[in-house]
Amino acid sequence: MTAIPGTVAFDEYGRPFIIIRNQEKQQRLTGHDAIKSHILAARNVANILRTSLGPKGLDKLMVNSDGDVTVTNDGATILKNMDVEHEIAKLMVQLSNSQDDEIGDGTTGVVVLAGALLEQAEQLLDKGIHPIRIADGFEFAAKCSTEHLKTITEDFKGTPENLEPYIDIAMTSLGSKIINKHHRQMAEIAVQAVLAVMDPVTRDVNFELIKIEGKVGGRLEDTVLVRGVVVDKDFSHPQMPKRLEDVKLAILTCPFEPPKPKTKHKLDVTSVDDYRALRDYEREKFTEMVKQVKDAGTTLAICQWGFDDEANHLLLQNNLPAVRWVGGPEIELIAIATGGRIVPRFEELTPEKLGHAGVVRELTFGTTKDRMLVIEECKNSRAVTIFIRGGNKMIIEEAKRSLHDALCTVRNVVKDSRILYGGGAAEISCALACMAQADKIGTFEQYAFRAFAEALESVPMALAENSGLSPVDTIAEIKARQLSDNNPALGIDCLNRGTPSMY
Ligand SMILES: Nc1ncnc2c1ncn2[C@@H]1O[C@H](COP(=O)(O)OP(=O)(O)OP(=O)(O)O)[C@@H](O)[C@H]1O
Ligand SMILES: [Mg+2]
Repeated sequence: MTAIPGTVAFDEYGRPFIIIRNQEKQQRLTGHDAIKSHILAARNVANILRTSLGPKGLDKLMVNSDGDVTVTNDGATILKNMDVEHEIAKLMVQLSNSQDDEIGDGTTGVVVLAGALLEQAEQLLDKGIHPIRIADGFEFAAKCSTEHLKTITEDFKGTPENLEPYIDIAMTSLGSKIINKHHRQMAEIAVQAVLAVMDPVTRDVNFELIKIEGKVGGRLEDTVLVRGVVVDKDFSHPQMPKRLEDVKLAILTCPFEPPKPKTKHKLDVTSVDDYRALRDYEREKFTEMVKQVKDAGTTLAICQWGFDDEANHLLLQNNLPAVRWVGGPEIELIAIATGGRIVPRFEELTPEKLGHAGVVRELTFGTTKDRMLVIEECKNSRAVTIFIRGGNKMIIEEAKRSLHDALCTVRNVVKDSRILYGGGAAEISCALACMAQADKIGTFEQYAFRAFAEALESVPMALAENSGLSPVDTIAEIKARQLSDNNPALGIDCLNRGTPSMY
């Protein structure tokens, strides 16, 4: 084998190794070509998401390597499920994810905007402007836009007595999702959930207190908000009561079973007597455990682990209803909601550590055997559960994601009570402000300023395209009207309401 110069190196022991395979076939891009190839990758990602933007945007159907199908309109989810390899494309995925983590909605919009900015940057590069000047210009323009946004924001008028504005906001967020058939109902659920867990002093919303649970079956409109916790489990024995009132809960993470010998030790059962002794010991231990739990005043035992039929029978005999195999996150939520302590050992159980709930009942669904437990009227009633029903798993998963977007938007107005109008209205208004500013700049940066304004228009442009409107005409008309009426609330009429006003 003849090595191509530069492809073989030697390690510290003198062994040769190849640095890059097939290097003769690889190309190395530098300078403008490299930048352009990066821009191309990012634009490709943005173009994929572009058709999903807005109330008339299309959903995407994705199949993963296991053959699982996901149908979604959520930008972050689409990107997460895409198998992107290019490093710059991965940055776009991260952009969308961080928008999802921080804001919760607008994950498609940010990618479309980033793609448009890069497209504009490419044109400027072709004109011979240095990348640094372009970046600086974009930064100034972004500053100019955020300053302008501050002048066109409006105060949000929602109050706990007047929920209508909150519902409007949630409905706008849900408008682009598959569940928008029942979007008033879903929006009301989202608003009530957020307001139920909101801290009135810090105006903060703890999302851990809102659990979204779904179960296949029923219809989407059967979705309800439960002011308490829903656990996808039932009582351990079918003869236990289906409804308990004024319940004292012991939340146990210790198993209801006799202590087992550790793996290092060996227990030989060689005779019938040994066996009997062991059985008696087990029974004695069970009885002792049940007694300890009952003595603390428990009326319902929530157990993280399972227990066998013997223990189950004993629990029933002792009138101590129990739920087994409750998962870790549920255990925590029950503890928060009922004000109970999670108890890791039976000996540590004391009356103060018990949680309290007004009602614990079993939910049954029509003819199916499925049952779930609802823990309501809890001591700390701020924990709520949104319980979604739907025809299949795909719908439920998408409903969960959409409700998450709506919850986040409502949380955002609770935290910062300023609003802007959508439908591209705010973007067009900013673009106009940037254009006006660009005329006053004498340096090279004015090109970047104009390019930034053009990029802002990509959002209304995509909205118009996706709604079947003629994008250029529509945007020209809206721009003219925003200028003549001095009204920053005019946007793209995606839903054909007959007016561009986004009020
Ligand atoms: N009724 C409406 N009329 C016109 N435009 C609307 C309307 N409702 C929403 N929009 C616009 O649709 C866009 C939001 O679309 P969409 O919800 O599909 O994407 P996203 O919020 O960016 O991302 P995602 O919801 O996937 O996280 C925003 O630009 C918003 O202004
Ligand atoms: Mg959205």
